[in-house]
Amino acid sequence: MSDQNPGANKMWGGRFTTAPADVMRKINPSIGFDYRLYRQDIAASKTHAAMLTRQGIIAAADNDRIQAGLDQIRGEIDRGELPFSIDLEDIHMNVEARLKEIIGEPAGRLHTARSRNDQAVTDVRLWMRDAIDALDGTIRDLQQALIERASEHAETIMPGFTHMQVAQPVTFGHHLMAYVEMFGRDRERLAGARQRTNVSPLGAAALAGTAFPIDRQFTAAELGFARPTENSMDSVGARDHICELLFCCSMLAVHLSRLNEEITLWCSDGFRFIALSDAFTTGSSIMPQKRNPDAAELVRGKTGRVVGSLTAMLVMVKGLPMTFMKDMQEDKEPMFDALETVELCVAATTGMVRDLTVRPEGMRAFLDRGFPTATDLADWLVREAGIPFRDAHHITARVVALAEAKGCTLQALDLDAMRSVDPRISEAVFEVLAPEHSVRSRRSYGGTAPDTVREAIERAKQRWLSDNPIQA
Ligand code: ARG
Repeated sequence: MSDQNPGANKMWGGRFTTAPADVMRKINPSIGFDYRLYRQDIAASKTHAAMLTRQGIIAAADNDRIQAGLDQIRGEIDRGELPFSIDLEDIHMNVEARLKEIIGEPAGRLHTARSRNDQAVTDVRLWMRDAIDALDGTIRDLQQALIERASEHAETIMPGFTHMQVAQPVTFGHHLMAYVEMFGRDRERLAGARQRTNVSPLGAAALAGTAFPIDRQFTAAELGFARPTENSMDSVGARDHICELLFCCSMLAVHLSRLNEEITLWCSDGFRFIALSDAFTTGSSIMPQKRNPDAAELVRGKTGRVVGSLTAMLVMVKGLPMTFMKDMQEDKEPMFDALETVELCVAATTGMVRDLTVRPEGMRAFLDRGFPTATDLADWLVREAGIPFRDAHHITARVVALAEAKGCTLQALDLDAMRSVDPRISEAVFEVLAPEHSVRSRRSYGGTAPDTVREAIERAKQRWLSDNPIQA
C-alpha cells in the first residue's frame, strides 16, 4: 500500500492522503523517549485485553492471541530486537503495529474502549510508582550510610556554624544526623506523591469515558493501583502528579546540594575537616598537588537541571485547558531526566559519605580559632554568679576580646586576666570552657550531647531503616 502511494500517512490511513512534512516527522514523535514505557505499556494492554474478555467485549480466542503476541513483543524489546519507527509516533502505536504483524486482525480489537490518552497516562503512573519505590530505596541507603558514620562520630567534636561563623561546638555525628532528618522528609514527600500517583486512569478513554461496559475496578486492581480515578476528564488532563514528583526530586536535589557543598568545603584547605579518597576525587592536569572533589561538585551542579525539569513541567501545564493537549507529550523527558539525575546523585553522595575520612585535628584547629564556648561562659556567669544574661553577654564579649588580643583560646586565658574583666569569675569556670564540656552539656531533646545523639540514632534506625517500605 505505501509502495503504491508514497504520500500515505502510516498511522491515519483514511482521511490523510499525503505524508507529514519532514519537520513534522521530527517534532511529532515521542518514541525517542517514551520507548522507556514499553513494559508498563504492555502490562496495561494485557490487563485491558483481559478485562475486555471478562466483560464479553472481545472473544477469548482473540484475547489469547493478544496476550501471547504482547508477551512476544516484550521479549523482542527486552532483547533490543524490535526496531522502532518514528512514523508510528510513540510506544503505543509501535507496540500495536507490531502486534498486528504478529497476530493479524485481532490486534485491532485491543484498542476497543481505550484511547492513547488514557493509555499514556496509565503507563506513566505505573512507571512513576516503580521509580518512586526505587528512589525511596536509594535514599534509605544514604540514610543508612549517614547513620553509620554518625554512630562512629557521636563524640567527634567540630565547630557548628551560623552565618558561616563558628557558633558553638557540635559533634560530627549530630551534624550528619541533621541530614538524616532532611532526607527522611524527602522520603515522606515521595510517599505522599506515590499515594496521589497510584490511581488508575485506564478506561477514561479519550476524555469522556466509554459506552462499552468496561470494568475499571478490575483493571485498577490488576495493575496494583489503589482505585480508579474519579473523573475521566481529570484522568487524561491532570499532570500535577508529575509536577509533584519533580518537586520532590527538586527538594531532594537541593538537600543533596547542601550536603555536597559542605563536603566540598570540608575537604578544602581552609577547613581540612575530612578527606575523600582517590575513588571520589580527581587530579588536575596542570597542578600536581590537587585533589578535587568533583563528584560533590557535580551533585551540587546537577541540582540546576532537576529544578529546571520542575520548571519545565509547571510552565508546560500552565494555561492548558481541559483535557489532553499535545503539549503534554513534553511531560516525559523532564521526568525521566530528573529521576535519573537524582538517583545518580543520591548514589554518589552515599558513596562519598561512606568514603570520607574524618580529620578531628582539622576540626579542632578551626574550633580553637573561633571561641566556640563563649556562650558557655555567659551561661556560667548567669548560673554561678547570678548575673543577668544580658550583662553576662557583655562581660563574655570583653573576655573574648582579651583572648583575641592574646591570640589564644578562652580556656588558655589565665584566671587573673579573666578576673580583670570581672572579679566574679572563679577557677571553676575552666570546666565549662572546654568544647568537650560544652557538647556534653547540651542534653536537651534533639541536642548535640553524645548520649543524646546516640538516642537520636536509635530512634532514626527504627524510623528510617526498619522494614516497612512506603505504601500507597
Ligand atoms: N504520544 C502521546 C504522549 O506521549 C500519547 C497520547 C497521544 N494522544 C493523542 N491524542 N495524540 O502523550
